[in-house]
Amino acid sequence: MKTIEVTASRSYQVLIGSGLLSALGREVKKLCKASKVAIVSDSIVFPLYGERAASSLREAGFEVIDFVFPAGEESKNGRVYLELLNFLAENHITRSDCLIALGGGVVGDLTGFAAATFLRGIDFIQVPTTLLAAVDSSVGGKTAIDLPAGKNLCGAFYQPKLVLCDTDALNTLPEDIFRDGCAEVIKYGILYDPALFAHLTQFGLAFHREDVIARCVELKRDVVMEDEFDTGARMKLNLGHTIGHGVEAQSHFSISHGKAVAIGMAIVARAAQRQKLCTAETKEQIVALIQQFGLPTETEYDAESLYKSALSDKKRAGGTVNLIVPIAIGNCILYPIEVTKLQSFIQEGL
Ligand SMILES: NC(=O)c1ccc[n+]([C@@H]2O[C@H](COP(=O)([O-])OP(=O)(O)OC[C@H]3O[C@@H](n4cnc5c(N)ncnc54)[C@H](O)[C@@H]3O)[C@@H](O)[C@H]2O)c1
Repeated sequence: MKTIEVTASRSYQVLIGSGLLSALGREVKKLCKASKVAIVSDSIVFPLYGERAASSLREAGFEVIDFVFPAGEESKNGRVYLELLNFLAENHITRSDCLIALGGGVVGDLTGFAAATFLRGIDFIQVPTTLLAAVDSSVGGKTAIDLPAGKNLCGAFYQPKLVLCDTDALNTLPEDIFRDGCAEVIKYGILYDPALFAHLTQFGLAFHREDVIARCVELKRDVVMEDEFDTGARMKLNLGHTIGHGVEAQSHFSISHGKAVAIGMAIVARAAQRQKLCTAETKEQIVALIQQFGLPTETEYDAESLYKSALSDKKRAGGTVNLIVPIAIGNCILYPIEVTKLQSFIQEGL
């Protein structure tokens, strides 16, 4: 097992290891005075892991209730959020009680936002069950729901009390969803860590899960500690995301987030090479690694459509868009680009 300490507006540990779910009750007991805990999960994850989580919590002396909603991004909305708050109120959850987010990023974001707002804030624990949630969304305290106008438009910065990641849970992930998480893992290698990048190149999809997740969490932790409220350094985590959002939007979300980010990273790498910001070797290494993981590096959409969709992304600042661009493996820069030049930059990367 690996333990990573996060120090932000609230300090907490991230525990990563095989079989950890059965230790959930014991670990929560160390941190919470709660008498009652509410497991929040989705309709796919709960049947797989709900009972294991609940029995561990019961053995530790907690009264356990559960709230299960239909799996998928469509549930990360105001209606389900209010249903969850009403469920907590009807079941007399108090400020000393605790929520457990058992699932992927959708469960984590929704539960975190409910925890941030119910009774003006109660404890919550992240139990990520997707690779994306393990390496990204469960750490750092961004919580949100979607609005009809766009994704993640309503949320709060609210750190969990603990993150407990049982790497065995990833065994039941559909391969496609596992690969989506790999795009984020590759992103950390390109952004910060040549050794991580080399490990991924050597082992491909058979990378060492506990070590790699722990390394990604350390890297995310370092960024969050520098910029908890997303006003600077945290922006770097958007590598591949601005153009990726364009791909996602153009496909009406039929192309998943991970695949869109993979395409976005490849476009940025190719454009960076053409603009002599990085070498051809760096660009080739990036594109080859993305392909090695079975992720796409090309898109059928043209530069104009991608540009238009990318501009509606909320990361736009006035007349400039902040792209993250690789200089070398493990070294990326913030690259402010005038809106008028974005389309030709994308064109160079197609
Ligand atoms: N808060 C943040 O910092 C942050 C960062 C990145 C992404 N996100 C958010 O995360 C969400 C995406 O997260 P995700 O990719 O985990 O999606 P998800 O939570 O929808 O999970 C993907 C699918 O996998 C299923 N699943 C989860 N764990 C499983 C398991 N162990 N075995 C079998 N099936 C399993 C889920 O039921 C779902 O159908 C988006 O809403 C995104 O906005 C948040």
